[in-house]
Amino acid sequence: MEADIARVLYHESTILSRLDELAARITADYREKELTVVAILNGSFIFMADLLRRVPLPLQLDSWSVSSYHGTKTSGTIQFRQTQIADVRGRHVLLLDDILDSGLTLHAIRDRMEKESGAASVRSCVLLRKMVPRTCPVEADYVGFDIPDEFVVGYGLDYNERYRNLPYIGILTEEAIRRNAL
Ligand code: IMP
Ligand code: MG
Repeated sequence: MEADIARVLYHESTILSRLDELAARITADYREKELTVVAILNGSFIFMADLLRRVPLPLQLDSWSVSSYHGTKTSGTIQFRQTQIADVRGRHVLLLDDILDSGLTLHAIRDRMEKESGAASVRSCVLLRKMVPRTCPVEADYVGFDIPDEFVVGYGLDYNERYRNLPYIGILTEEAIRRNAL
C-alpha cells in the first residue's frame, strides 16, 4: 500500500494537531447546545473518531451513508443508503464529511437535513476542502485543510474502496491509479 503513494500530503501528526484546533473551536461553539453530530460515511470514519474524542461535550452521534464517487470522478448523483434518520428536532446538527469537492454531496445532505429534520441549526465540518469551483452553492463552516485539485487517499478517503486505512493523506502514483481502476 505504501508503495502506491507518490507523495504524502499530510502526516498523521499534522492531521491530529489540526484536529486539536478544530475540536477546540467546536467545543467552544456548542458548549451550551444540544449537539448531534452526523457523520457522512464511509469517508469520515477515521476523522470522526479522532475529532470526537477531542470534543468533551455530551453530544449524540448519527451517521448517514451516501455515495457519489466512482474512481477519481464524481458520478454527479447522490445516493442515500439509509432509510431512517435520527430524530434531531430542536437539536443543533454538525455534519462531518471527509472532503468538500464539487459540493454536491454536502449540498444534498444539508438540504435534506434543513428541510426534513426540524433541526435548530445545521453546520458542516470537513477535513479537506479542494480549491476548485463548486458545482453547488455550499460552504463548510469548519475546515481542516485547503488542498489543491488533486485526488487524495488515506485517513478514510478511498480510491475504489481501497486505501481508507492509511494513517496519513497522500497522492497515488499513476501506476496505482491504473492498476486499481474499475
Ligand atoms: P463532492 O460531492 O464532489 O463534494 O465530493 C464529496 C465526496 O466525494 C467525498 O465525500 C468523497 O467521498 C469523494 N471525494 C471527493 N474528492 C475525493 C478525493 O480526492 N479522494 C477521495 N474521495 C474524494
Ligand atoms: Mg469515496
